[in-house]
Amino acid sequence: MNIIEKLKWRYATKKFNPTFKLSTEQVDQILQSINLTPTSFGLQPFRAIVIDSILIREALKKAANGQSQVTDAALVIVFAAQTKVTKNEIETYISNIATTRNIPIELLADYKTMITASVGSWSDKEQMNWAARQTYIALGQLLTTCALLELDACPMEGFEKTQFDAILGLEEKNLVSTVMITIGKRAVDDDYQHLTKVRKSIEDIIIRK
Ligand SMILES: Cc1cc2nc3c(=O)[nH]c(=O)nc-3n(C[C@H](O)[C@H](O)[C@H](O)COP(=O)(O)O)c2cc1C
Repeated sequence: MNIIEKLKWRYATKKFNPTFKLSTEQVDQILQSINLTPTSFGLQPFRAIVIDSILIREALKKAANGQSQVTDAALVIVFAAQTKVTKNEIETYISNIATTRNIPIELLADYKTMITASVGSWSDKEQMNWAARQTYIALGQLLTTCALLELDACPMEGFEKTQFDAILGLEEKNLVSTVMITIGKRAVDDDYQHLTKVRKSIEDIIIRK
């Protein structure tokens, strides 16, 4: 399959095969895809929470309108955005660049000032919204990664965010849940796999100037 065929093959899976397991290599590729996501300034202001616990999955399913993907998928990942970006975190990021690229930290002073000024000029709400947007970039990249790996996935935001935050203890970590992805193998009787994709025409979605 070429890339467009793979993107047509993927669909938001409603029913997973509950016995399917991912290989260690597949899980590793998924986690690397998340970490390789481009983010604004490169700050990566979010966490991806892998839900292994059956008990936690059951609780999350209840808070997600009982959607079966939450318990049946091989992998469940909840994205959580940071509620704010601290000065300390910007310092850590700048040190990481200096160490990773082996460059004197003084050369990064202007970059650090620029990031600090930008982030510092936003209200708490703007910071949180900005961080939340970064999680959707990770989601999009991960959906494509799954399609390329020929793994099925369902992006999901049909859940009670405050309940998810409570179940996962996110508030004390200064995080808020944004979106979730469930990954695995489609059930043979998931009727959605046979539906024709509904999309606008290219002419309707693309504007050329
Ligand atoms: C951000 C986001 C949230 C979604 N939330 C859910 C959800 O909670 N449950 C679900 O079954 N599908 C969910 N979907 C799937 C969409 O309904 C689906 O992607 C869309 O109808 C297009 O269909 P396709 O992905 O099969 O091509 C979500 C999709 C996105 C991108």
